[in-house]
Amino acid sequence: MIVTGIKPTGQIHLGNYIGAIKPALELAKISGYQSAYFVADFHGLTKIHHAEEFRQLSYGIAATWLALGIDPDQVIFYRQSDVPEIFELNWILSCFASKGLLNRAHAYKAMVETNKEFNRDVDFGVNMGIFTYPILMAADILLFKANTVPVGKDQTQHVEIARDIAESFNHVYGDTFLLPDYKVQEGTAVLPGLDGRKMSKSYNNTIPLFEEPKKLQKLINRIKTDSLPPEAPKDPKTSILFTLYKEFASPIEVERMHEQYLRGIGWGEAKKELFHVMNRYLEEPREKYNELMASPEKLDKILLKGAEKARALSIPFLKEVKRKIGFNV
Ligand code: TRP
Repeated sequence: MIVTGIKPTGQIHLGNYIGAIKPALELAKISGYQSAYFVADFHGLTKIHHAEEFRQLSYGIAATWLALGIDPDQVIFYRQSDVPEIFELNWILSCFASKGLLNRAHAYKAMVETNKEFNRDVDFGVNMGIFTYPILMAADILLFKANTVPVGKDQTQHVEIARDIAESFNHVYGDTFLLPDYKVQEGTAVLPGLDGRKMSKSYNNTIPLFEEPKKLQKLINRIKTDSLPPEAPKDPKTSILFTLYKEFASPIEVERMHEQYLRGIGWGEAKKELFHVMNRYLEEPREKYNELMASPEKLDKILLKGAEKARALSIPFLKEVKRKIGFNV
């Protein structure tokens, strides 16, 4: 089983797509495994404390998965909060997770470090959801007996923590949880953002995945370039525009563009070409995304049907786990 989720804490951008979503969708296609994709809405609650924003972001993740080609009849597609067994398991696992293990989790540690830098209390701004985030993620993974968890690089430690917690439980009660492995797509380029640094919400340099064409063009026009004149030869290797172009153009187009760079291409022209291939690639999913966002009741229906499928697995397995612990269920 392949399991992966996305937390609704911001607008999905091209970096998320190329780095994590696309590889996850491709892995499921080639592996022949059953796969589960979900909206990690309760993970989003660690950050988003505004009802309307929370609702829109959650629907946004669901619509994104579907727009990019998830077929809810082929895979298990659900919203985390519709599967209550995850939360029961969350508590059980928290009784097998040492506090020290969670002290070492990167996201929490980074917050503590920042607080120290600013001479604040070390736990300033840290809610318990942030601290125990990896336990809930372990429940997501272990409840569905995932052997493979496709994630972006920043999430590998969380999968290792899930493994550690599973081992602690298995050590006491015998083989119960499958030990999951993470899968980070090797060779995928780190997608540069508008300023050339890694595209990331925290750098404020992103291109939203489903941006409207006019705004998309505007963002592309903002991409940083040097001041070489149009006719001067350009180095494709160091060009943000070319790195982005490669992700969305066909191999023949990439080859041609490579030659044009060496011969000399104006940045304005290069930006126009980039917009062309990006928009061509995104047009169809964007339309589907907009359609879905306009009918949340349709999304709810799909998600609830998916949750039923998920619970057909989670209810019996959670029972098995509880019996081992000593519950009479
Ligand atoms: N923590 C992941 C992220 O921020 C989202 C997530 C939650 C997840 N539960 C998961 C990913 C289980 C894989 C498996 O991207």
